[in-house]
Amino acid sequence: MKLSLYGEKTAKGSGILSLMQDLDAALGNPVKGNLYFLGGGNPAEIPELTAIFREAMESILDSPPDFSSMIGVYDAPAGNTLFRELIAEYFSNYFKTNITRENIAITSGSQNTFFILFNLFAGMASDGKILKAAFPMLPEYIGYGDTGFSPDLFSGCPGLSETTGETSYRYRPDYPCIESLENLGILALSRPGNPTGGVLPTEDLERLLKIAQKKDIPLLIDNAYGDPFPGILFGDTEPLPWHSHALYSFSLSKLGLPGLRTGILVGNSEVISLIEKFNAVSQLSVNGAGPAIGSYLLKNNLLAKISDDILKPYYSQKSRLAIETLQKHNQDHLFRYHESDGAFFLWVTVHPLSMPTLQAYQILRSRGVITVPGIHYYPGCKLPQEKDKSFRLSFTRDNKTIEKGIAIFAEEIRKTVLERPEP
Ligand SMILES: Cc1ncc(COP(=O)(O)O)c(C=O)c1O
Repeated sequence: MKLSLYGEKTAKGSGILSLMQDLDAALGNPVKGNLYFLGGGNPAEIPELTAIFREAMESILDSPPDFSSMIGVYDAPAGNTLFRELIAEYFSNYFKTNITRENIAITSGSQNTFFILFNLFAGMASDGKILKAAFPMLPEYIGYGDTGFSPDLFSGCPGLSETTGETSYRYRPDYPCIESLENLGILALSRPGNPTGGVLPTEDLERLLKIAQKKDIPLLIDNAYGDPFPGILFGDTEPLPWHSHALYSFSLSKLGLPGLRTGILVGNSEVISLIEKFNAVSQLSVNGAGPAIGSYLLKNNLLAKISDDILKPYYSQKSRLAIETLQKHNQDHLFRYHESDGAFFLWVTVHPLSMPTLQAYQILRSRGVITVPGIHYYPGCKLPQEKDKSFRLSFTRDNKTIEKGIAIFAEEIRKTVLERPEP
């Protein structure tokens, strides 16, 4: 069968496809043999949290009107109106500005939000120019890169690395590179960042917002792990600033509800109305289960409690364990890691590494350790082979998986470095 150009692009597969397939193989099927899953970003199953979600579901089941509205009605194309009103009130308090439901759109998860926004703001414009979706500080979330209908949709600037300790570092934005990006349609970043776990300081965020305003384009801030919910942040962070050119993306997934596929976009009402129009055409309306459970959490003021009492302590312990374990196997300083300010991952860079990370990933996989090779995190930027030296290790699983998985990772990588000569 003849495929369109987009069909051919889809047929080639994508980084996010292999990540999700690895995730399903590890979590969706019974595991054979020892498997240390340090791969995808599925949130951990935390019993206290499951109990809250179960109570939410039971309360909906016990209320005939809530149950009927969740399963028996198509919601508005911008998402369930009542939920959008509750969310608007919540964000009016957070941003200290007047936000209404016209500023809120619900999508089928934030991956779906990115797909819509990148294709609305990037691609061929009416004057024939190809507008770009650009990432101001790579590496960036693997899922951004494969969302374009048209080819060559993305561009970006690798972050500059700054040493922060003997074996730690962080990236900061390369402003001359960002200022030189051309034909911009939209800028996007994750905060905290996936894969690095770094939180871009507020002053940098404000500087990027000024650039967006000057170019009259939106800056998409992906808060999948960030403030105010799920709030998987390990230190003190200032609240997000409200800005006319920012689009704030949120999701219920990393709160522990990825199966509900619910994304929330907050921002300028003109953009929200574009999402509404896209939703109507692409899927009529959005699912009702996420808004039903989300409304329960909002009405019962549970978001802050979940973040402060459950998620922050849980994931900050995991982050510390991952760093301590890596350090235990790092007497020779072969590994350097990005400072971990939030989210689920440790970004580990190996100096030197004698093979591409994709190849090292296969070797690790054969030893039962699933990681994500760093090469996937540079959408819109051809990473030179000599810079392909990083892996993303997720720390959402039990302590034994983290400790044993990182130990095998370190041992196996050391073998590839020491025993295999440079090609
Ligand atoms: C940074 C980031 N943004 C967005 C998403 C997408 O999440 P969802 O589509 O489940 O909302 C992920 C998932 O891993 C992520 O890591």
